[in-house]
Amino acid sequence: MWADLSGKRVLVTAGGDGIGLEITRAFAAAGANVMVCDIQPESLERLAKELPAIHSCIADVSRENDVAAMFALLDQKLGGLDVLVNNAGIAGPTGGVETLSLADWERTLAVNLTGQFLCIRQAVPRLRNGSGPSIINLASAAGHLGMPGRAPYSASKWAVVGLTKTLAIELGRDGIRVNAILPGAVDGPRIRAVIAAKAKASGKSVDEMTQTYTKQAALGRMVTARDIANMALFAASDLAANVTGQELAVDGLTQALS
Ligand SMILES: NC(=O)c1ccc[n+]([C@@H]2O[C@H](COP(=O)([O-])OP(=O)(O)OC[C@H]3O[C@@H](n4cnc5c(N)ncnc54)[C@H](O)[C@@H]3O)[C@@H](O)[C@H]2O)c1
Repeated sequence: MWADLSGKRVLVTAGGDGIGLEITRAFAAAGANVMVCDIQPESLERLAKELPAIHSCIADVSRENDVAAMFALLDQKLGGLDVLVNNAGIAGPTGGVETLSLADWERTLAVNLTGQFLCIRQAVPRLRNGSGPSIINLASAAGHLGMPGRAPYSASKWAVVGLTKTLAIELGRDGIRVNAILPGAVDGPRIRAVIAAKAKASGKSVDEMTQTYTKQAALGRMVTARDIANMALFAASDLAANVTGQELAVDGLTQALS
């Protein structure tokens, strides 16, 4: 096995679906003891059928009390923490900046940025006692490029990169590595909804907008959730023992976002 995570205690936020689910599957297959949270009970029920050994709980990462309760459960179920995967994130609204509501702006930042902060704050004292400890924050290609029509999302993901780089320095002396994964467009229901919303907003067809997305990457295609899970496995493993503070792009070299 190229990335051996045997015995690692791992928390994946929003592990019930999408990229988080694929990361959960990959970590479990690599021997990790995984706990996930999500806000969708049905996703966690499906996960329990597929992978009965996984621990799970309902928690909204933007709520301080939910996060505190999740970590109390984690202490019981995993007995400590070696890897935090801060995966939860929402797309936020699509539209010109003057059309956006304050509520949508604040919700996007609450989940995508404050959610990571709340989990990191709880995780750090536990990671200090962990083995090969690390934090993996899901950012986005929109965290190093501008993305017109998606100001709250892009702003939140740039902030995730700033948080990552700062904490890599702050926590380096404790041996805790902190990296960000920056996915490009990941094929799946979420990106199709984003593309449909952008097509509607710009008067283009969904096919045209899909082509615009794929042409933005040098490799001319979307990435898969498994590609992101592979990078997470690497970043959490001893193979990345000296990798910290990095923007790990998995985007087929995306050069612009529209
Ligand atoms: N899908 C993409 O193309 C893409 C591209 C770049 C970055 N990302 C980032 O990757 C991460 C995962 O994206 P995804 O596409 O798998 O997401 P998704 O929309 O498919 O959602 C995955 C899960 O997140 C859960 N969730 C939503 N809000 C939550 C909250 N407040 N607390 C806990 N769980 C919550 C949902 O219930 C769902 O099960 C996000 O941070 C996202 O911004 C995704």
